[in-house]
Amino acid sequence: MTEARIATVRLGEDGPEVGVQGLGCMGMSFAYGPTDAGQARAALERALELGVTLYDTADAYGDGDNERFLSPFFKAHRDEVVIATKFALSIPKDDPTKRIIRNDAPYIREAVEASLKRLDVDVIDLYYMHRRDVNVPIEETVGAMAELVREGKVKHLGLSEVTADELRAAHAVHPITAVQSEWSLFSRDIEAKVVPAARDLGVGLVPYSPLGRGFLTGSFTNAEQELSADDFRRHQPRFNGANAAANAALLEPVRTIAEAHDATLGQIALAWVQQRATLDGLTVVPIPGTRKPNRVEENVGAAAIVLTEDELARLEPIAQKVAGDRYADMRFASAGRE
Ligand SMILES: NC(=O)c1ccc[n+]([C@@H]2O[C@H](COP(=O)([O-])OP(=O)(O)OC[C@H]3O[C@@H](n4cnc5c(N)ncnc54)[C@H](OP(=O)(O)O)[C@@H]3O)[C@@H](O)[C@H]2O)c1
Repeated sequence: MTEARIATVRLGEDGPEVGVQGLGCMGMSFAYGPTDAGQARAALERALELGVTLYDTADAYGDGDNERFLSPFFKAHRDEVVIATKFALSIPKDDPTKRIIRNDAPYIREAVEASLKRLDVDVIDLYYMHRRDVNVPIEETVGAMAELVREGKVKHLGLSEVTADELRAAHAVHPITAVQSEWSLFSRDIEAKVVPAARDLGVGLVPYSPLGRGFLTGSFTNAEQELSADDFRRHQPRFNGANAAANAALLEPVRTIAEAHDATLGQIALAWVQQRATLDGLTVVPIPGTRKPNRVEENVGAAAIVLTEDELARLEPIAQKVAGDRYADMRFASAGRE
């Protein structure tokens, strides 16, 4: 079957050419309750058929399980996929609410070797610092990452949830290809400082959780009541209690616009982030996460939707009305340090 593949774009000035939408693989092993491995594998294959080439994982997802799960897929398609993984964060399996962050040079060396081994590849295409440890100078961290590039273990460097100042300081040490931060109709804090800095430096933006962790698709409205006991979204203030009900009501304009395009809510959310970034003069490659092949098709379909100026204006006020933060402790995000 011949099918249209999504367009490609260069991520950052010196980065890889990738499909305009990537795939977030975290949920295949971690954070969002029970997973069907067969469906997840089918989702990976379907994504590749449709031109999705940037695949996002991290050593922290399931304490290495996600990298191990993806390894056979990556090895079978090594020349077609761009592998992005991350270091800095560990979440012990026996205490998934705990977060340990390390950015020091010896740790980075250990982490990259462990990721290469679990992935069973010779080189990581895009290696991100997942979270910032403010006790380690960013220059030390990026200096250690740059050594990995020189040694051929890593091709390109990225940073996740960094402030604009941190990004500038890092970029002065070694070119940064991409910043990965949360960006969606519900989460727009990076637009104040990080987005302009990325644009000025020629750094690409990889919006994570562009579907608001599923909330923007309308597939759940209250995490505590509807999601499994181990689901991370139960710890996010905006998806629980009175906040969740208030936030579900904010989806009304998204629903109306979706009907006008004969599209789903999620497709409108994805089209919005793509178009918002273009207006900001940035290259973006959103990485919606799904474990289901039919949802891959749906999400990829968003790349063809063009929102009108009037529709963009109707979506504009939503983010400032969202009740509740995106993390219980906002120091975990760049906005909490800016
Ligand atoms: N750098 C960071 O700190 C960071 C933080 C979070 C995430 N990430 C990365 O970003 C990726 C994406 O973020 P995310 O997974 O948190 O959030 P997301 O992409 O906003 O949403 C994922 C959720 O939406 C559901 N979903 C996806 N497509 C759907 C559709 N068409 N209809 C209905 N529901 C749909 C998924 O369920 P199913 O899987 O069941 O389809 C999942 O529960 C992750 O996989 C991860 O790689 C990075």
